[in-house]
Amino acid sequence: MKITVRPNGPLRVEGHIVLTDADGKEWDLTGKPAVSLCRCGASEKRPFCDGSHNKVGFQCSASPALLT
Ligand code: FES
Repeated sequence: MKITVRPNGPLRVEGHIVLTDADGKEWDLTGKPAVSLCRCGASEKRPFCDGSHNKVGFQCSASPALLT
């Protein structure tokens, strides 16, 4: 699995993905090689990104270089 932090956007998750809610119920991701997970909180399709981060002007730059 690979997770990419998109600038001012979602977390892009690629590879074998098992996504569950807190009770262990799985989303059916059959046939999906990747998903984008909302990290702005504005999506109406949470936990998935629906592009709302653009409408709300979500800004977040995350990089390992910023941790030093
Ligand atoms: S990150 Fe895209 S809608 Fe939240």
